[in-house]
Amino acid sequence: MTQRILLIVSGGIAAYKSLELVRLLRRRGIAVRAVMTPSAQQFVTPLSLGVLTEDHVFTDLFDLKDEQEIGHIQLSRQADLVVVAPATANILAKMATGQADDLATTLLLATDKPVLAVPAMNVRMWHHPATQRNLAQLRSDGVHIMTPDDGAMACGEYGTGRLPEPDAIAAEIERLLALPRQADQLAGQPDFAPSSATRTLADRHILITAGPTHEPIDPVRYIANRSSGKQGFAIAAAAAQAGARVTLVAGPVNLPTPAGVTRIDVQTARDMLAAVENALPADAAIMVAAVADWRTADAADQKLKKDGSGQPAPLALVENPDILATLGHHAQRPTLLIGFAAETQNIADHARAKLARKGADWIVANDVSGDVMGGDTNAVQIVTADGIESWPVLPKGDVAIKLIEKVAHALSARLD
Ligand code: CTP
Repeated sequence: MTQRILLIVSGGIAAYKSLELVRLLRRRGIAVRAVMTPSAQQFVTPLSLGVLTEDHVFTDLFDLKDEQEIGHIQLSRQADLVVVAPATANILAKMATGQADDLATTLLLATDKPVLAVPAMNVRMWHHPATQRNLAQLRSDGVHIMTPDDGAMACGEYGTGRLPEPDAIAAEIERLLALPRQADQLAGQPDFAPSSATRTLADRHILITAGPTHEPIDPVRYIANRSSGKQGFAIAAAAAQAGARVTLVAGPVNLPTPAGVTRIDVQTARDMLAAVENALPADAAIMVAAVADWRTADAADQKLKKDGSGQPAPLALVENPDILATLGHHAQRPTLLIGFAAETQNIADHARAKLARKGADWIVANDVSGDVMGGDTNAVQIVTADGIESWPVLPKGDVAIKLIEKVAHALSARLD
């Protein structure tokens, strides 16, 4: 049977990408019926969208002809999935507060179908507490949210807020359309337990740090390390797939945001600490970032120049705050606190000492004497108060899934 989506296009410069999205969906055999807000029509015409959907495009709540032929309640329920792409900060705010002042928002309030919102907006609008509050509300209402991409924006700024590429949106739509079918298939099997496959972390907030930090020396130089962020991003992806609300605080890395993850980009250890504290409370925090231990006492405002004496510029360093240890002794300490330890020797002993010093529950100790930093596999030992578990060398994705399964198990033992 043909699957159908109702595509709501709201107004933003990214609205033109909805044309490519429709083309990709039609190529995958998915039928698309489109609705446009008044401001979307400033960027794309209903005519172009209608040519691609090969259907009437709905724009007006009070269009008598549309209303007689197909009522708006009916329109909201005929699709298998409702997709808002691009979703502006404005339509997200209306959705979060249940407003219904035009056709698009009325349909969103009336629908009984799953909803996917694909935000696109200016980076500051994305990070604004009001937008993040609305997104949190929508997630807890069961709306699926894709995280925008990072990059240069139409307004000239740079950061998170770009509409994900149409093929990534189409893939997410296909994934969501497949979910009820998978559930039907699983439900037909005798040993199906709904909590086992995807919902082990539903209603939990998991906070993750990943990547290196960059500590400025002057406007063009910084202190950094070789962390790629791959392990932390894989853990964030696995936690989101397990149904958790995931906040990923990422240092400067060149990785796409995993589906369903809220990403906050930072540069320095102090920014990372602030973002982490801001994201509390969390059920579990997994601190994977390779935070720089030191920063320069004073980053120079101007580029440091050689002075001709042959002597290096004096670099006074001071210690950075320890984010893991701060959480270990925090008034809002997460129920489960996990640190990583990058070691090249006496791995278990060092990890045990770190567990005590930082007030963590587990330390995931990894041997970085090989090419772990930047590589795709990892050999880890999980050090807890109860002892040490050694895992074989595994792809970082498998380490992530195994760790998230262990987290889900520990949280349900502690909280339920
Ligand atoms: N960590 C942190 N903040 C820091 C330093 C480290 O949150 N300023 C966290 C890391 O994210 C990791 C854990 O602490 O989860 C261990 O980091 P590591 O650099 O191995 O430990 P150090 O405390 O630096 O100890 P050592 O110098 O012995 O390696």
